[in-house]
Amino acid sequence: DEAQLQEQFDATIEAKDRIEPRDWMPEAYRKTLIRQVAQHAHSEIIGMQPEGNWISRAPSLRRKAILLAKVQDEAGHGLYLYSAAETLGTTRNELTEKLVAGKQKYSSIFNYPTLSYTDVGTIGWLVDGAAICNQVPLCRTSFGPYGRAMIRICKEESFHQRQGYELLMTMMRGTEAQREMVQESVNRFWCPALMMFGPPDDNSPNTEQSMAWGIKTHTNDELRQKFVDMSVPQAEALGVTFPDENLKWNEERGHYDFSTPNWDEFWSVVKGDGPCNAQRLAHRKRAWDEGAWVREAALAFAENQAAVEPT
Ligand code: ACO
Repeated sequence: DEAQLQEQFDATIEAKDRIEPRDWMPEAYRKTLIRQVAQHAHSEIIGMQPEGNWISRAPSLRRKAILLAKVQDEAGHGLYLYSAAETLGTTRNELTEKLVAGKQKYSSIFNYPTLSYTDVGTIGWLVDGAAICNQVPLCRTSFGPYGRAMIRICKEESFHQRQGYELLMTMMRGTEAQREMVQESVNRFWCPALMMFGPPDDNSPNTEQSMAWGIKTHTNDELRQKFVDMSVPQAEALGVTFPDENLKWNEERGHYDFSTPNWDEFWSVVKGDGPCNAQRLAHRKRAWDEGAWVREAALAFAENQAAVEPT
């Protein structure tokens, strides 16, 4: 009966074992996972846009090959994640319909513009760096398919981070104008990158329950702090600064102190009023509508094959 199933579920979570798609799970657990995994998948797919825009304007063949590979990886991440979500009883179609109707979220970070090729480097370093910080712990999340998808995604994200840092390092060895471009780009992305970790813990409605279920293993503020601590020495090695006069080492805490991000800006971006929200969603909707014939043709082909092939 239900009480017994719940007990079994609780014991699995308690033992830090994995919940698998065919196992019984509370409906609220299923719902939260679909929400998080779908948002994550949408972020990967929408995340192709800010950088995809620069593929045709890469400064060299080498940079173009790297960027193409990276953007294709993001498409792959989206697909692993939609597949993980499908094991929970939803479909990629249904989730994409919700995204293009504005009923599901994707990460705030992708609503900021990419103004120069330098931003490809900064996104790799800071945005993918923040993504890794958030996603490495998710490799041990309690739902099996999500955790397993994360393992592969994290490996690819480390390549993304390295290529970004290397791009910026190359520019820092260039001219004064190039160094200024790097600093300007870092100035624009630092605060939005901090916001990727979500609202502060005391204003994060989902954290407590998601931690209890082992979906999340760290709070938003814990991961944000980890990201700041990790990024400061990288900035020093690169020769740039972060735009925050309160950023300094706190001996007592053993962490860097930093300014509270502008949460009004965060909520306005999450609610749809960021600099590129409308553009990103319109582009995704156009691609979805224009791809309808491909999906229909693939389905018709699969049905024909099933009809002619003996089962
Ligand atoms: N952008 C947009 N929405 C956000 C963001 C963000 N950066 N952070 C939080 N939110 C939303 C939450 O989705 C939630 O809204 P909902 O209840 O309608 O879903 C609301 O703000 C409150 O936040 P929390 O209660 O803290 O939500 P949650 O526990 O889900 O934590 C977090 C948010 C940390 C983003 C979590 O969902 C997570 O770890 N997700 C997986 C990682 C991910 O999605 N990464 C995508 C960006 S990285 C990349 O793709 C390169």
